[in-house]
Amino acid sequence: MNSLLFIFLALPIFIVFLLIATQNKSRPNHRRPPGPKGLPFIGNLHQVDVSKPHVWLAKISHKYGPLMYLKVFRLPVVVISSADVAKKALKLNDVAFAGRPYTSASLRFSYDHSDIITSFYTDYWRKMRKMVVHHLFSPQKIRSFRPVCEDEVSRMIAAISNRASSNQLIDFGETVWSFNCDVLCRVEFGKILDQNSTSSRRFHKITTQFAACIVETFFADSVVFGWINKLSGASRRVENIFEDLDSFYQQLIDEHLDPNRPESMNNDILDLLIQLREDHSAAVKIDWKHIKAILMNVFIAGTDTTGTSLSWAMTALMKNPSAMKKVQEEIRSLVGNKRSVDEDDIEKLPYLKAVVKETLRLYPPVPFTPKETTEACIIDGYEIDAKTFVLVNTWAIGRDPEYWENPDEFLPERFLNTSFDFKGQDFGFIPFGSGRRICPGAPLAIANMEMALAKLLYFFNWEIPNGMTKEDIDTDSSAGIILHKKNPLHLRVKNYI
Ligand code: HEM
Repeated sequence: MNSLLFIFLALPIFIVFLLIATQNKSRPNHRRPPGPKGLPFIGNLHQVDVSKPHVWLAKISHKYGPLMYLKVFRLPVVVISSADVAKKALKLNDVAFAGRPYTSASLRFSYDHSDIITSFYTDYWRKMRKMVVHHLFSPQKIRSFRPVCEDEVSRMIAAISNRASSNQLIDFGETVWSFNCDVLCRVEFGKILDQNSTSSRRFHKITTQFAACIVETFFADSVVFGWINKLSGASRRVENIFEDLDSFYQQLIDEHLDPNRPESMNNDILDLLIQLREDHSAAVKIDWKHIKAILMNVFIAGTDTTGTSLSWAMTALMKNPSAMKKVQEEIRSLVGNKRSVDEDDIEKLPYLKAVVKETLRLYPPVPFTPKETTEACIIDGYEIDAKTFVLVNTWAIGRDPEYWENPDEFLPERFLNTSFDFKGQDFGFIPFGSGRRICPGAPLAIANMEMALAKLLYFFNWEIPNGMTKEDIDTDSSAGIILHKKNPLHLRVKNYI
């Protein structure tokens, strides 16, 4: 009661103090990018549409421009919404845009930034990223994961085929989420998680809660109101999830250290990390804390993103029957009656590859990438201070009308006979980011997506449930750092072969 009374009395004094402090901070000749006028103290917070921030930011950027300035409490925020500005920031000022913002949740989950995703731009990050990319994401390593992916696709196809025979509706999003989760679990720690098992449910719960917690604590951290997180209970929730995650990793490590472990654990990602721990010549001396932090990166960055992309690909194809017909004809005429699609086939399917790219352009699973400037820089004559929170609005950039013709239409043809790739140098198309922090998992994600989609489209004919039309399939997304489909995609499925 006493502490509540204290807060009640102290809060107004604190607010006035902050109000004065933030007002005095603006420098007279500072040329900031344009942006909507905010209120004293809270800045633009009251205007933010938290349900779809990427759409809201894209909309207001039409008025204020592709380089926009906002303020959330005392946190300066710069938003990038066009291919041209993205190039100027991420290519011409790549060091300035190589930082990551701080949140208390990410600090905890990453074992004090021992990972790659949340780590600040430091010498440690450079060495760690180089080492991890070399040992875990090299082209040879990714190739070695292929059999796992193919095996899991086959398991998914068999499960769908059973449902098709009994004429049941399929929740497409759930099906591909489980598939992708299974691939990652096997690649990462050599285990097949039975979808109804306790481990699987635990895994699903942790990944969902994790993302929510990062967002929840972010705003309070941004105003250095860490105590708000304590009052709201968010700090406790972070701690609970952390403990859950930590014991999950510990269990996996113990299983890997068991001399009688199954063979499937040989050379999985955790096994490779344990080998690196024993390598005294490694660039970074890694211990259990680093290993747990990298495990977190792989399953948080990899699970939701690829599964979500597959859901969007199927949504777009169901809404565009001519694209569906073209891609199925391409696959079926190449594969014939072979009853399997292999890696070599994928390389001969340009329209399928274009469908994957067009999906990632229109529905990037990470709709905005958070960064923090490591140093001050000038873009288009506007000054951006060091330690500014930056949002690269990948969703808006993929729909930039200066870059794309008919940007809102799903037209895979636009990627045929072009050299667009995922390396982050085509700045209108950066679903995996660009610059020093570009996603190292892109080749693995693309390989999984292409293989899964090719087989789903080869083996089955997909239909909209009775009583619905293609116009009834919505493209609504839910709030959060990953662009999930808001409503499930239920489809009828028929065996083709
Ligand atoms: C469709 C799937 C995926 C998409 C769209 C995606 C997208 C992204 C994006 C936008 C970033 C931030 C890049 C930047 O700051 O410029 C990122 C970072 C990262 N991603 Fe992915 N990702 C995907 C799958 C994966 C997978 C499968 C893995 C690992 C198995 C992975 C591991 C990482 C890591 C470790 C980082 C941090 C890089 C750093 O900060 O240096 N991602 N990803």
